[in-house]
Amino acid sequence: MYSAQQTQHLEKVSREFLKKDAGVKDIDELRNSLRFHEYRYYILSDPLVSDTEYDQLYKQLEKLEKENPELITKNSPTQRVGSTLNAGFPTVQHLVPMLSLDNSYNEDDLIDFDRKARENTGLDTIEYCVEPKFDGASISLIFEDDELARGATRGDGVEGEEITTNIKQIRSIPLSAKFSDYNIQLAEIRGEVLMSKKSFKKYNELMEEEGLPVLANPRNAASGSLRIKDPKLVAKRSLEAFLYHVSYYTTLEGKKVSDEKDHSKENISKREAPFITHSESLQMLWDLGFRSPEKEKKVVKGIEKVIEYCKEFEAKRDDLPYEIDGMVIKVNDLALQDKLGMTSHHPRWAIAFKFKARQGTSKLIGVEFNVGRTGAVTPVAKLEPVFIGGVTVSSISMHNEEYIKEKDLRIGDTVLVERAGDVIPQIVKSLPEVRTGHEKIIHYPKQCPVCNSELFKEEGEAVWRCINIECPAQVVEKIIHFVSKDAMDIKHFGAANVLKFYDLKLLSDIPSIYTLDFDKIAELEGFGKKSIDNLRTAIEDSKQQPLHRLIYALGIRYVGETTAKTLANAVKEIFDFASMNIEELQSLEDIGIKVATSIYGFFQNDDNVKMIKHLKELGLNMKNTKKQSSVESNTLSEQTFLFTGTMNKLKRSDAEEIVEKHGGKIVSGVSSKLNYLVVGEDAGSKLEKAKKINTIKIISEDEFLEMVKQ
Ligand code: IVH
Repeated sequence: MYSAQQTQHLEKVSREFLKKDAGVKDIDELRNSLRFHEYRYYILSDPLVSDTEYDQLYKQLEKLEKENPELITKNSPTQRVGSTLNAGFPTVQHLVPMLSLDNSYNEDDLIDFDRKARENTGLDTIEYCVEPKFDGASISLIFEDDELARGATRGDGVEGEEITTNIKQIRSIPLSAKFSDYNIQLAEIRGEVLMSKKSFKKYNELMEEEGLPVLANPRNAASGSLRIKDPKLVAKRSLEAFLYHVSYYTTLEGKKVSDEKDHSKENISKREAPFITHSESLQMLWDLGFRSPEKEKKVVKGIEKVIEYCKEFEAKRDDLPYEIDGMVIKVNDLALQDKLGMTSHHPRWAIAFKFKARQGTSKLIGVEFNVGRTGAVTPVAKLEPVFIGGVTVSSISMHNEEYIKEKDLRIGDTVLVERAGDVIPQIVKSLPEVRTGHEKIIHYPKQCPVCNSELFKEEGEAVWRCINIECPAQVVEKIIHFVSKDAMDIKHFGAANVLKFYDLKLLSDIPSIYTLDFDKIAELEGFGKKSIDNLRTAIEDSKQQPLHRLIYALGIRYVGETTAKTLANAVKEIFDFASMNIEELQSLEDIGIKVATSIYGFFQNDDNVKMIKHLKELGLNMKNTKKQSSVESNTLSEQTFLFTGTMNKLKRSDAEEIVEKHGGKIVSGVSSKLNYLVVGEDAGSKLEKAKKINTIKIISEDEFLEMVKQ
């Protein structure tokens, strides 16, 4: 898409704009830079500027366009955001009907498909293109004269809903693409809109915390998001899109080329340049700046190799950042595709190979109500155990009262359960058709199931909360959160020990972690000298954890790990928050009014401040050591580092500190900006990604230590 020379140029130009604002004469160059950075970020996942730097460039363009509205172009990066729709989405006709695919579930089905294809074409061996079957919502886009002209949902396959404005919110879809370089005037292309597993999880966590309905799975999330009336809300859902099919195009000379060979009204031409195979069409889409499955696809000859690749992909299904539910096998030669043609439902030149289902049905046999660390009472469905995708599921969170009502879930119901990869199992729906009439409505408790105090619901919220801060359930959950891996990371503690120690009155609140009576613990079954020593050391070590971990560990509402880091960087020590007002808090990066109010409230509460003071007396670090730790040497000056996997000799935080002390920088992701990836045990996707960027040096923990020793 961008040559090395263009890349170098655009990067240089952007750096200049970051140093000195672009002027009106630079507006085209600025737009090109923004498009380029979108491509690096959304298509290559390899950004060359930070998010803040991107925003800075974007703001410059917004300002220039505001001052010079006559210079706004239709496909400017600022033109993605549209206005809210009042009426529904208009219906539009697809240029070629969107058919579905025939499904196969095992090797025999595939062998059968290949046999038929060979018989129908008279060939001995067929070349196939095998690619993932993305599990999202299908879309159809029309590009005309190099610009995105229309986006539509699948609808009934013949007609869909026009959702162009929402499609524009998906940053991996370019608003313009040089189809004319391929002699194409108009093209209809097909693809799938997805929500990544990470965005899905983040979205649901937020919804759950706010007591709003959560989404059942990333697929529903994607299709639901496309039909939201407010494009700004669509933009917030971080959707992505893969484009995998060109169903129709016209050449600059006016020739028409279509999937539908026997289209009665049109004079359809034969397949010819720019692409005569499916894989070439994927390559073209990739080169035009679309995210096509160019890197994921494989072209193979014969069905055995197809089966092999399908199995290979199924094995790494869980490691992918998005959901796939199978593979799609397509005859690669487009002329052969035309020869095979279609039935009224599906093409004869393609078949889906579906992976093992991750859905199952089970019976909802009861409901338990759990109390979380913020006092939120969460209903948990107890199910007859059902084996789905390799694990037995017997209990599933139903999130809140709204969720139960919306899905009309009743005790005794048969429910459809889905486990999507590393996504927590969800109840998709109940099956009212199989009700016997004996099902029971789920009643929400009025009192806390643990401490019996009355439950409250804030206005506009769907969560019932126990507001008794001494409620044992909340206390226990708060301690569990405090010791957890992402918080203070006190190893050998864990939820089971917290519960045990609390029941035995060895633990009563967070500070009591640091005054544990180890003699009493030694009397307990299963606690030998070694395990007690381990626990004691882990607790002692945790006192030196960096400030952002302590802030996160306190469990302040809406303060996740990222916000905790922002907060830690803004102060010298934790007590500084007690004198900050909401406005000051809100001025920090990515902290809105809701979060700021919550932090303010937390530090205005005397009990909380008292507890933190107590923790200080017990020897916990309260200071932002990062800011104060002065650079001791310049050995690593200008060099960027990232640690991945489990280190044997160093704690992650110590390693990061060493880097900074020697003048180096820690970055958060693998990109061409990264100089060194330090790899510990069981390193995963970061290592794989780094291997693909040959400027990154991949080193071991020992090699890293050697570097800083010098
Ligand atoms: S090709 C005419 N390729 O699966 C053939 N479809 O059950 C057009 N899908 O409606 C479809 N990934 O939404 C194709 N790599 C892929 C796909 C894919 C997902 C979806 C698509 C289609 C459904 C068929």
